[in-house]
Amino acid sequence: MRILGIETSADESGVSIIDASGDFGRDFSFTTLGNAVASQIATHTKYGGIFPTMAVREHQKNLVPLLETVLNESGLFGAGTTPTSGIDAILTRESELLAQLVPFLEKCAQPNIDAIAVTHGPGLEPTLWVGINFAKALAHAWQLPLIPVNHMEGHILLSMMDVRRPSLAMLKSFKFPLLSLLISGGHTELVRSREWMQYEIIGQTRDDAVGEAFDKVARLLGLPYPGGPEISRLATEARAQVGLCHKVAKSDLGILLPRPMIDSDNYDFSFSGIKTAVRRLVEANQPLSEEMKKQIALEFENAAAEVLIAKTMRAIEEFGVETVLIGGGVSANTHIRTQLAQTIKDYGASTKPLIPPANLATDNALMIALAGYFRALKREFADPETIRANGNLKLAQN
Ligand code: KG4
Ligand code: ZN
Repeated sequence: MRILGIETSADESGVSIIDASGDFGRDFSFTTLGNAVASQIATHTKYGGIFPTMAVREHQKNLVPLLETVLNESGLFGAGTTPTSGIDAILTRESELLAQLVPFLEKCAQPNIDAIAVTHGPGLEPTLWVGINFAKALAHAWQLPLIPVNHMEGHILLSMMDVRRPSLAMLKSFKFPLLSLLISGGHTELVRSREWMQYEIIGQTRDDAVGEAFDKVARLLGLPYPGGPEISRLATEARAQVGLCHKVAKSDLGILLPRPMIDSDNYDFSFSGIKTAVRRLVEANQPLSEEMKKQIALEFENAAAEVLIAKTMRAIEEFGVETVLIGGGVSANTHIRTQLAQTIKDYGASTKPLIPPANLATDNALMIALAGYFRALKREFADPETIRANGNLKLAQN
């Protein structure tokens, strides 16, 4: 089955096509036929975060060129014509997108695709709508079923896949119960799965998401958006200075940040306190030296990693977890990856955490096409008349 995936939940526009067959436990495999992402980082850097109105406009500009790229990449673009009647009524609010889509469809024959999967939440509702309406327009033009996808399920399923060989990717071997640590710009969640595609959120952040904290701390340090990679770069430099590349090097300026809720008797998180502590430190140490910035980055990364790992380890112990997985943009963080793997090893568990390839840790449409495939197997199609963006969409319990 060929699935076209569309992702617009935040500031990455993504389009992807996969060809998948089989099912969980029944020889599942897939080929990535095309995958393209347009990052809006340059646009949002000047605002220090995602600026929704700009993001909506950028998605509108990006989607048709991305579609063209993946259709070409996958060899599915054929010269011809797709009738465009009715599309203007679907894209009433997306005039820039409509202006590109009509001429594109007029030169493009119907591709050999079976269904269209689109993120309908969680995320920023105005940007989710752009992707949904684009998917609706294509589904209408090509008479294809529409599959609504939960963005977080996309992150989880992607981490479960062995995508080193895109020509034939498959599921990694793992056992349930599975624990997923989902860490991104919008989410910090611990999710327990007793079985395939069943999810129970056992803990989540009470205020800022960890990626948001990385971004806000970076901003306080005068670093560009997105802050995660920047903080990570400075922290790595600070560790290298003391020759402790992968170890927990302590800040040598005596900087100490809190580890909020690390000992609390639940799986929830809180990151706004660390950010506030960084703000105070920054205010008290003006002008901030380069060395001070590095040391704050190091201590912040250590604090975030320690809290995430402590809660994960507690859940592993309490729920007899057999497999641990990390997903979401912050799972690209090398320190968090290596420390989590080391802690699990020290604990004596036989499993290594399942991690996404670094280039697929942040938002992309490949994960949406994948989740869409498994939802299509369950015949969970959307009625184009009633599909809605849901910024707070939760993972389904079953
Ligand atoms: O999953 P994602 O692409 O988008 C959301 O769904 O939010 O995650 C984006 C977040 C940003 O906050 C970014 O700063 C963070 O992931 N991030 C990182 C790293 N790379 C991206 N955080 C820490 N270390 C990184 N290397
Ligand atoms: Zn994400």
